[in-house]
Amino acid sequence: MSDNDSDIGSIYTATSAPSTFASSTVPTTSGMDEDGVFDSRHSEFGRPPSPAPSIFSITHSLREELFTFVHGRFVNNNSQVYQLPADEEEIDRLDRQHQLFKMLLGQNYLGPVAEVLREEEGIQKDVLDLGCGSTIWAVEMAQEFPHCNVVGVDLAPPLQADPPPNCRIEVDDINLGLEHFYGSFDLIHARLISAGIKDYYGLLDDISKCLRPNGMFLAVDWDYRLCDPTKSYTTIYPRNHPKHAWLPRFIRAMNVAVRSRMGNIDAVALLPQWLKEHRSFEAVGQCDVWIPCGPYFSPDTEAGKRMNTIGRLMALDILSFISAGRPLLLESGMPEDEVDELLTNAHRETDQAHGEFWLKLAATWGRKKLETPSAPI
Ligand SMILES: C[S@@+](CC[C@H](N)C(=O)[O-])C[C@H]1O[C@@H](n2cnc3c(N)ncnc32)[C@H](O)[C@@H]1O
Repeated sequence: MSDNDSDIGSIYTATSAPSTFASSTVPTTSGMDEDGVFDSRHSEFGRPPSPAPSIFSITHSLREELFTFVHGRFVNNNSQVYQLPADEEEIDRLDRQHQLFKMLLGQNYLGPVAEVLREEEGIQKDVLDLGCGSTIWAVEMAQEFPHCNVVGVDLAPPLQADPPPNCRIEVDDINLGLEHFYGSFDLIHARLISAGIKDYYGLLDDISKCLRPNGMFLAVDWDYRLCDPTKSYTTIYPRNHPKHAWLPRFIRAMNVAVRSRMGNIDAVALLPQWLKEHRSFEAVGQCDVWIPCGPYFSPDTEAGKRMNTIGRLMALDILSFISAGRPLLLESGMPEDEVDELLTNAHRETDQAHGEFWLKLAATWGRKKLETPSAPI
């Protein structure tokens, strides 16, 4: 248990500067089938061209194209890599999780985002949110920076999104490449998408080309590993060991299942170095945000009460995440009785705040150089 204020305050560790989808848009009618549904096979790059806007509406066939029913949950139908649900329950979880992050950070971003997006006369600024999920970050950024245009991209965005006029949502698989976005954005944001990315190093290269000079990439992600109160990765003890706990066992099972689908979750730890080494990036910053997975603090101080609120919200998020993991674990070949034993026990222990666990969210950012040196021969 941590009950002193200085412990409570240290949620950051930094190594450098510290809807409806009804108005989703594509620029032209090319690539549409007779229902007005975008068909990526007909487009030049295999996906909606961008960023010039046009409108298509949700039709039955689009709904069927986007989602498939797997072990009791709707999952996206566009990627075999990302297999967490894409249904209302998951959208609600992502919205609540977003509020939790905002409560923790006091804003929607880390790093010099406000500087990058500041209004400059005669200059249009554009933001891309990769893997926009419920679309809440993209929508709130469009509201906070009304002079910017925001584009959100996801395998299966919610069908009820109602974005403001300066925000639009597109259906796409990032793993197919981002050529259609080259040279179009001042800020590219990617939060919690590594589980759906096959080659994050390759994506970084694509992102560098999508950014305008002096633009910024901001990644926020976790690596599907839990930490103990000393902020070291947890040990997974055998079941008969007195220190055995089910939540770390569940998170490890998810880690293995995501990797079996080629999700590049190990990239999270490498991103700062990759950005520093990349010839197009400079001013790389990194910051770890620590989130308690339960109410572990003395409620005697305001800071303790606040962190207990955050811990309770994180525990609720984990309870939903445990249910969300069932299709992925079953699809990865784990027997049903083992999955259900794991989920039931992880759920019970999280609900009862058994053990103290922390989650590390790693934020990494870098600015695109004004001039990119030519590639070494
Ligand atoms: C855990 S959610 C996070 C959503 C949102 N970024 C947030 O922070 O609330 C991951 C999202 O990334 C999307 N995603 C994962 N892989 C993707 C890919 N290859 N292309 C497009 N979207 C992807 C998923 O569909 C899902 O909505």
